[in-house]
Amino acid sequence: MHRIAYLNNQYIKFDEAKIHIQDRGLQFSDSVYEVVLVINKQLIDFEFHTKRLKFSLNELSINYTVNEKKIQKIFKKLINYNSIINGIIYFQITRGVQEREHAFKKNLKPNIISYCQKKKFNLPNKNYRAYKAVTYPDIRWSRKDIKSTSLLPNILAAHYANTKGAYEAIFVKDNKVTESSHSNVWIIKNNKFLTHPTNRNILKGITRSVIKNIIKKENFKIEQKLFSLNKLLNADEVFITSSGSLITPIIKVNNKVIGNGKIGKLTKKFAILLYNHYKNQNR
Ligand code: PDD
Repeated sequence: MHRIAYLNNQYIKFDEAKIHIQDRGLQFSDSVYEVVLVINKQLIDFEFHTKRLKFSLNELSINYTVNEKKIQKIFKKLINYNSIINGIIYFQITRGVQEREHAFKKNLKPNIISYCQKKKFNLPNKNYRAYKAVTYPDIRWSRKDIKSTSLLPNILAAHYANTKGAYEAIFVKDNKVTESSHSNVWIIKNNKFLTHPTNRNILKGITRSVIKNIIKKENFKIEQKLFSLNKLLNADEVFITSSGSLITPIIKVNNKVIGNGKIGKLTKKFAILLYNHYKNQNR
């Protein structure tokens, strides 16, 4: 069976999906993307992703109108064609092709790219794993709320984490924790959850929004405010959230062990609640 990708209204062999060399996504990272979770063949939190996609496109004036029904159809076909049970769907829209020039012309024809990847998630069962993270200076631009493919600082940070045997790189700016290279960061202290507020300094993660609602429903306290590196290092529990990592426990940051160095009780509790919430989504 061939792996199938979607490119501009066509379903084609993955290896044959090619883009023009003057595509602005390739030359300037002039493009936006989404990563949607697939669990048991179901799309998870699809509407949240299309909403954020609209926001990113709008902020960058990319000429693409989001049609939820059409995108959902593409995703479902990709899931079927590639026999995906658990994994992610990648969806990218570039501004289009143009003779090289920084300024963009109006009404370019965007390139639409999509494909899926099978993935084993870190689920809160007997194999639930905790990881180490490292800190890294937040050297990104000032519109981190836009999900664009301009990800060089994230890539350098993730690579640094890799070289240190860590799962994630946590960004620190002016001694405050923002988020990490591909996820949002949470800490728990005295049963209270703390995470960076949503503004232009972080990506408003879909997993972050969903888990926030679950935490509130369970009557736990959440504060969305800036917190220092020191607070992170002295937290009872630390975890990260993203569509690829769900809730993943962090038990060491740099050389500092977090809490008792084991997966925190609340981290696991909410990872289970999140996973149950996903399993109950049927479409
Ligand atoms: N990353 N912050 C950053 C910088 C991210 O790249 C991501 C997601 C998140 C979490 O967002 P969400 O919960 O909507 O996945 C936060 C995706 C998975 C990626 O780039 O692969």
